[in-house]
This record gives sequence, structure tokens and C-alpha cells, in this order.
Amino acid sequence: LIHLLTTEGLPKRILNQILDRAAEYIAAGDAGTRKFNALAGRSVFNLFFENSTRTRTTFEIAAKRLSADVTSLNIQASSTAKGETLLDTIQNLEAMGADMFVVRHAQSGAPYLIAEHAKPGIAVVNAGDGRHAHPTQALLDMYTIRHYKGDFTQLRVAIVGDILHSRVARSDIHALSTLGCPEIRVIAPKTLLPVGIESLGVHVYHDMAAGLKDVDVVIMLRVQNERMSGAFLPSTQEFFKYYGLTPEKLAHAHPDAIVMHPGPMNRGVEIDSAVADGDRAVILPQVTFGIAVRMAVMAIVSENQRGQGAQA
Ligand code: CP
Repeated sequence: LIHLLTTEGLPKRILNQILDRAAEYIAAGDAGTRKFNALAGRSVFNLFFENSTRTRTTFEIAAKRLSADVTSLNIQASSTAKGETLLDTIQNLEAMGADMFVVRHAQSGAPYLIAEHAKPGIAVVNAGDGRHAHPTQALLDMYTIRHYKGDFTQLRVAIVGDILHSRVARSDIHALSTLGCPEIRVIAPKTLLPVGIESLGVHVYHDMAAGLKDVDVVIMLRVQNERMSGAFLPSTQEFFKYYGLTPEKLAHAHPDAIVMHPGPMNRGVEIDSAVADGDRAVILPQVTFGIAVRMAVMAIVSENQRGQGAQA
């Protein structure tokens, strides 16, 4: 693993290596204050061409905990606004001594393009590309599930809402399948489901009562209004009535079910505040685990890049 671009095809051994490393950082971390040396002397560039609160900030915190030199480019104030191309931007940052790019982009595939053209020894980590993939979100979701449920092989997991536009759903489905989850359900209106989603091995439901029945984990998704062009957009009230997670709908799940959400939440659209702030929600622990998981990803790709250099 010299770049992290997707969870699709990522072997179970590597998924577990990342989750185990994250657990080690948490166990050794003295409540999040301890520094590690894995990226000492390394230069990490955060390139967020699309807005972010959680991913951008936790990557920055994670890189600092690993003793990296971190630069978070302000894309809105950068020469991208003057028309500089993505690859010209990358070449210029390479000339400043970059060792790693953490990339979020509205265009699916942008991190792949950078990985293809980056100089040898430079790692690329996908922080969310278009509708395609959000691998570190999936990894922190897997960490959260493993933390609360222990084992994937007995679990029923439901992913609910705007599956069509969700890079989180796709990355979660790949990771859950690889980790041995026997029953992955997606619950959504037909208009917010990608054609052929069944080919990923998921069970499709259009009704919350049936889809949530006895599940152990509920992953709610944000309704992505900014990506709705051409798609049928249900009204807020309509969506909430049929697919919004309320305490009444959650009662169909297993009594110990946990509720997750990648954030940002649309309260009153996909989730009721009584659930989002309730005792079954693990939405804020997800964010905290994200720091250790991103530390693990950055440390491992950096070690592997250096290992490759040593072999060359
Ligand atoms: N979950 C997630 O990607 O949130 P941000 O867009 O705030 O990074």
C-alpha cells in the first residue's frame, strides 16, 4: 500500500493492519496528546478542492501527531482560481519538497490522476473524490463498528439514504464485504439508488421498517443536495417522513444497534435530533477515531513508500 485511493480490492490483511495500528495509537496515545515520530521530517500537503470540516481537520491533527510538517493549501485563495491545472499545482508543490498529498476533489478519479503523475516516493491519500470513494471514512467506520461490536462476521448492517451520490456508501460496502460482514442492506427510494447496486452483494430495501429489522448497525447518509443535478430530489418533508431516522423507526433495529453518520448531518432530513443526540448514536466517537485511523494510514503508506525506495 503506497497510496490509499479506495477500499475496493483492498485485502483484509491490509484493512486489519490499518485498524490494528489505529488501535495501537489510541492505546498509547495518552488521551490524544502524545506525539509519534513516524512522519518526522516529512512534508504533508492537504489539498481540499471541496469543502470539509471533519476530514481536513482530522488529517491535519493526525499528521501533526506523527510529527510531520503540514501545509493545508487554501484552494479558494490559490492559483487554481486563476486557472492553474491540477497537475501544474502538484508539480509546484513537489518542487517545495512534498512527501505526501491528501486530496479531496469533486471530480471522481482526481487522486488517481495525481498518484499516476506524482514523483516516485510521494504518497497520495484519497480524502474523498466525487461520488467514487472515501476510503478513510470507510476505515474509521470499520474501526467504530469493530470497537462497539467486536466482530464483523455476525453483523447485519444497514446503510440508509442517498446511496446514489454517496462515496461513503460505496467505500463502506467494499470494506464491510472484505471484513466478512454477512448481511449488508441498503435502504433508499429507487431514485436515490445507483443502477446495479445489487452486484456489490447488498440487499435492497425501500421500506425502513423492513430494512432496519434486527440490524446491529445503522449508517445514515447525508442527502447530498449539491450533487442532485438530474436526480429526483424528494422534498425535505417527504424524505424525512419515509427515510428520516426517528426513535420510532430505530425501534425496528436490534435493541443494541448503534447509529452512525459520516457528517455533516442534515437534522430533520435524514436524521431526527432525538436520534443524532441520543444514547445509540456514535457519531462523535467516529470523528475521534478518525484521527487515529488517519494516523495509521499516513504512517503505513509512508513506511511502504520508504521501503520501496530502499528496494529500488
Ligand atoms: N465525513 C466527511 O467527509 O465530513 P467532511 O466533509 O466534513 O470532511
